Amino acid sequence: TSVSEPVPPTGATEKNVEILGSVRQQLANLMKESLRATVPELSEEEPVVSACNNAKHGDYQCNNAMGIFSKIKGKSTTYKNPNSIGQAIAKNIPESTFVEKTSIAGPGFVNIVLRTDWIENRIYQMLVNGVGTWAPVLPVTKAVVDFSSPNIAKEMHVGHLRSTIIGDSLARMLEFCHVDVLRRNHVGDWGTQFGMLIEYLFEQFPNWEDIGDQAIGDLQAFYKAAKLKFDDDADFKAKAQQAVVSLQGGDEQYRAAWQKICDISRREFDQVYKRLRVTLEEKGESFYNPYIPDVVQQLREKNLIEESEGAQVIKVDGFEIPLIVIKRDGGFNYATTDLTAFWYRKNVEKAEWIIYVTDVGQAQHFDMVFKALKLAGWIPEEGQLPKAKHIGFGLVLGADGKRFRTRSSEVVRLVDLLDEAKNRSKDELVNRGKDKEWSAEELEAASEALGYGAVKYADLKNNRLTNYTFDFEQMLDVRGNTAVYLLYTHARICSILRNSKKDIEELKKSNSLALTHPSERQLGLHLVRFAEVVEDSVTNFLPNALCEYLYSLAGMYTEFYTNCKVIESEEETSRLLLCEATVVVMRACFSLLGITPLYRL
Ligand code: ARG
Repeated sequence: TSVSEPVPPTGATEKNVEILGSVRQQLANLMKESLRATVPELSEEEPVVSACNNAKHGDYQCNNAMGIFSKIKGKSTTYKNPNSIGQAIAKNIPESTFVEKTSIAGPGFVNIVLRTDWIENRIYQMLVNGVGTWAPVLPVTKAVVDFSSPNIAKEMHVGHLRSTIIGDSLARMLEFCHVDVLRRNHVGDWGTQFGMLIEYLFEQFPNWEDIGDQAIGDLQAFYKAAKLKFDDDADFKAKAQQAVVSLQGGDEQYRAAWQKICDISRREFDQVYKRLRVTLEEKGESFYNPYIPDVVQQLREKNLIEESEGAQVIKVDGFEIPLIVIKRDGGFNYATTDLTAFWYRKNVEKAEWIIYVTDVGQAQHFDMVFKALKLAGWIPEEGQLPKAKHIGFGLVLGADGKRFRTRSSEVVRLVDLLDEAKNRSKDELVNRGKDKEWSAEELEAASEALGYGAVKYADLKNNRLTNYTFDFEQMLDVRGNTAVYLLYTHARICSILRNSKKDIEELKKSNSLALTHPSERQLGLHLVRFAEVVEDSVTNFLPNALCEYLYSLAGMYTEFYTNCKVIESEEETSRLLLCEATVVVMRACFSLLGITPLYRL
């Protein structure tokens, strides 16, 4: 088949293989010993190890010398300048299987070159035991990722699309690192607007219990009409307000009507999730409602809640306005639900990381909520668990540089957007005659992988905090930094492997991977960096770092393939293994980005 699901790569746990930690981590462990020997008086000094930007200098560097010098200046007679500290650090590196040589640059940077046979072996072990053995180890076992989270009866907009794509990728990375992830869809399914919606449903569809969902038609239009009536008609408004009371009081009829409205929305959301192959577990705002009184009571007992202009509020430092916990009318709001949801996630679900993926517009909301939770002692000091984090992201812009809208300046329907990406991909494949080569299902599956993959990658490749411009032509270009280019590269390598007519599983038994040519070594080194890139990506919550890695990987592969003959060369076995290692790591990246790989194109 040409397509497979983005199955998470596995390996380590199943096969009981030791998890090694990243190359950077292993080097850091080694450098730590050297630092202890070099400056025993600085027993807390942590090694600062990073990949060299310029391959001419080495593979990795240790950057501690300058910092150490500023700490011991005037106190030490041993070291006169940072360079002499660098020399000592290099000299004190313990014997190891992986450091080939070191050199000192400028103010004491220790450049490190790794042993090539060690890199070869690391790649070989990965081929045998699975890329799961390269999963970094994180200081967390259970996490809540609160993402997507659209609002019932309102449109799911491009902001929710970004949240869905970014949140899913972060969840995938955490899962890859063996973290138990609760993928939470915190849908807006509660609040006073439901009174209006229910009342309008009763009026427009007296037999609402028996009608199919389609009868209501477009739920957003329904919402708008209800809102119009609510604003214009005092009688209706009064009824709507009464309806909220009935709903919250648990009246069966009102509950059922509410359920109906939620179900219709959910069906629409699911169409998006199905296309994107994103799984979420819904625990909407309504879920936390029964827990609110108790949580508010606990906050009250901590003397955090005071009265302000008729409302019950928590004052938080740095904000002029307080966080409203109980509104003047006695109702709870968005913030009350978030305080309660946090309490639930921490105490009932026992999550250690709780992360919220929304647009940066909500930064202040989360800032205030987290500060209130700190006052309550529910969020501890920085560095302790549980940790709460808002993952903000910028806007999606249209070609005009303004918020992305349709031509008639409506909110873009996400299903339509995704379908267009897929259809454009399909047209392209048909242009290339693939409809004659492949079965209808294959064509369909490839169009989806390309189209949806392109949308996801175009989003993920940018630093999430920046705005980005939604542009079909750009994201579907086979020649740029796009999913399409990457999927083609992957498929091309797969076809080389197929054309070799060799059984890769057999080749794997030979342990003959040798990185002799400089572009082989460059590619090999990049491969073994996978673990630390995932680690950085997930701990900084920046999937774009993984995208950059993947794009460079494709570039380095191309360089290797340009310079090194693979099929029917003397080094064929080794080079095929390197090709295989490349596709395995590429697929791991695709999987972490939620992109479905294609094996032929
Ligand atoms: N429903 C909200 C919105 O559409 C996002 C909810 C984010 N999650 C949370 N726990 N507040 O803006």
